[in-house]
Amino acid sequence: MAEVFRRPQLAAELARRLLEPGVLDEGLRSGLFLAGMRRTGKTTFLRTDLVPELEARGAVVIYVDLWSDTKVSPAALVHAAVRRTLAELAAPASPLLARLRRIRGLDLGGMGFRFGFQLEELGEAGGATLAQAFSEVVDQAGGDVVLIVDEVQQAITTEEGNQMLLALKAARDAINPRPDTPGHFLFLGTGSNRALVSELTARRNQAFAGATSLSYPVLGEDYVRHVLERLEATGVTLRPSLQAACRAFETLGHRPEEFLRALSQLQAGSSRGSGLAPDQLLPVIAATLRGAAADLELQKVEQIGGLAVVIFDRVARSEGPARWIFSAESAAAYGQAIGREVRVEEIQPVVNELLAANVLMRLGHGRYGVTDPCVQEIWRERQR
Ligand SMILES: Nc1ncnc2c1ncn2[C@@H]1O[C@H](COP(=O)(O)OP(=O)(O)O)[C@@H](O)[C@H]1O
Ligand SMILES: [Mg+2]
Repeated sequence: MAEVFRRPQLAAELARRLLEPGVLDEGLRSGLFLAGMRRTGKTTFLRTDLVPELEARGAVVIYVDLWSDTKVSPAALVHAAVRRTLAELAAPASPLLARLRRIRGLDLGGMGFRFGFQLEELGEAGGATLAQAFSEVVDQAGGDVVLIVDEVQQAITTEEGNQMLLALKAARDAINPRPDTPGHFLFLGTGSNRALVSELTARRNQAFAGATSLSYPVLGEDYVRHVLERLEATGVTLRPSLQAACRAFETLGHRPEEFLRALSQLQAGSSRGSGLAPDQLLPVIAATLRGAAADLELQKVEQIGGLAVVIFDRVARSEGPARWIFSAESAAAYGQAIGREVRVEEIQPVVNELLAANVLMRLGHGRYGVTDPCVQEIWRERQR
């Protein structure tokens, strides 16, 4: 069941908009950000559909996931991925080069790309900049370079990450406006937190102000049908209708893993003789699972303590990023809610714990949001 449902049309559409933008899509060359909730299939889509599609169209694609190793700084992860791809381009026998030769008809006379700088020094003080690296690739490939940064919002949490984003913007501005450029430098970022991704494109002091931000199109009915067909093909008889299954998938935030869990509980529940038909039982299971997923997160908040709960509440209720959560007025309000005096100095350590538990996230200076919008939604529902 772990088989990936492919989305070739979506990949083709995005690839076309990026690589061959029409008049209305030229803004995509300033950068494209896709925002969508955690565990809804963004990474899977990028890796199994979009990257191969971009490559088939002759682009050099560099992919890096900033959540792949949170102990390594975002800038170091990006530099490592760029160095890796450039090293492949420099190796005459690499599969990457073979593909470029085939698709772009590149004739390199049996050689690899030659770079006018030391690869190991890329991104280091005194070494080549990303602008230099990408412009050399664009010129030698005679085509586009696409850098995909998955969970890009991770970069704005550190100064070094912000510098890296500025370096990417500089690369874009150095390459794309050249009148005879043989290709473009394109940047695609994804993020699991909509508020953060819109911060990235909306704030004037951010590197990618003015870039395009789109919602990641979640999996839908065609995916649900595919799963039901596979259940049928493997002889599972207790299946919900397509309609009930779609509703459950929606309840579960369009998350494939949760959906499969619900379907397997449906089997277990029905075989235990609940007496309910699959279409009656599935909505109950979905609602329970949805609450359970949020409970895990909310338990983390409760474990930190009473002050954590009221701070979380404050952030969760706020429309857009929560601000002034450290003010004297806020401290007084927290105190009122928990029935004891709260000193301003008590707030920061608690917020730090909430950040460390990844329940809250920083959305730039002095602004905070709930990491998982699903959890925020459930919290609000329960407080009504
Ligand atoms: N198209 C798909 N078909 C089947 N399963 C999928 C698909 N997309 C995602 N999944 C499953 O959903 C889970 C979350 O996917 P992932 O790509 O990691 O999400 P995200 O990057 O949005 O957090 C993974 O277990 C993955 O296998
Ligand atoms: Mg991901």
